[in-house]
Amino acid sequence: MPPVRWRAGTYSGPVTYDRRLVDGFGRVATDLRVSLTDRCNLRCTYCMPAEGLEWLPDERLLSNDEVVRLVAVAVNHLGVEEVRFTGGEPLVRRGLVDIVRRCAELRPRPDLSLTTNGMGLSRLAESLATAGLDRVNVSLDTVREDTFLALTRRDRLHDVVAGLAAADTAGIRPVKVNAVLMRGVNDDQAPELLRWCLKRGYELRFIEQMPLDAQHGWRRDTMVTAAEIFASLETEFELEPAEEPRGSAPAELFDVDGGAGTVGVIASVTRPFCGDCDRVRLTADGQVRNCLFAREESDLRLALRAGASDVEIADRWRAAVVTKRAGHGIDDVSFLQPARPMSAIGG
Ligand code: 5AD
Ligand code: SF4
Repeated sequence: MPPVRWRAGTYSGPVTYDRRLVDGFGRVATDLRVSLTDRCNLRCTYCMPAEGLEWLPDERLLSNDEVVRLVAVAVNHLGVEEVRFTGGEPLVRRGLVDIVRRCAELRPRPDLSLTTNGMGLSRLAESLATAGLDRVNVSLDTVREDTFLALTRRDRLHDVVAGLAAADTAGIRPVKVNAVLMRGVNDDQAPELLRWCLKRGYELRFIEQMPLDAQHGWRRDTMVTAAEIFASLETEFELEPAEEPRGSAPAELFDVDGGAGTVGVIASVTRPFCGDCDRVRLTADGQVRNCLFAREESDLRLALRAGASDVEIADRWRAAVVTKRAGHGIDDVSFLQPARPMSAIGG
């Protein structure tokens, strides 16, 4: 959809509004993150407690049809160009392949991607590729079995490794790996993880840990910063800023050892990129969140189930984005962690 902007002053032609998801600062959300479930089969310590969380009851979850309808509204009425499915763990959602296939039939066809912990990906990669999945990001914070167990509280490193290989074989490339470093747990393993990914042709990106854990255990003064990650990588690799412009992609990319591959560092906390943000989120229970750290949500599920038309849903969605804040404000004294943890919002 071409941007048609409102013009102030004298009338000269059709006065139309930008029908996309524009916020009060002029940012346009074209990248929709859809959480398909808040459940997960791992228990990463930076995300949730060992016993898990109280999951959303089934009747509050959007059905497959409802997910596809909302994605269609986003694509057809709101100019959304990219759709990323997340969780919790999206591979545990029954109907994922069907949802991907139906979203791939939308015109204009959105770019479709998945953020997953990789468990069960070896079984599903081929059908996801056939359904139209374009890209995948697999979370993997360590390639050591004991650290994997300590971090995720499950002894399943081999599953994730197999999942990555299957995505590669299925041609869902480039395979991207997301890693979070935790002090005293895996913060000494950044070069090892990079070496492992380079060898397999996977693109590794480190993400600074954000205050989105269900236990509220995040501490600004103990989080591993992008500067530390960079310093640690530089002990073993030569890093040069990559040519590629950063744009709205949050990763700062570096070429490794003069072309052996790239590595990204996402400094969500220490170098926020909120000014370039082009994202909007839909939770598994049908709430629009204009930011990971938003404290308000807009209920599309209720509207949908009350019989709202596509146009009415689109209007509601636009209104939900207009109020997006300038930034996450993690460093402000008044910062409040959102009520929902990451697993219930979607990464
Ligand atoms: N901070 C940063 N990244 C996180 N992830 C989960 N919780 C956090 C957090 N608190 C990561 C996961 C996954 C992606 C969805 O976000 O490891 O890669
Ligand atoms: Fe599951 Fe992802 Fe949370 Fe780990 S970070 S427990 S894989 S939702």
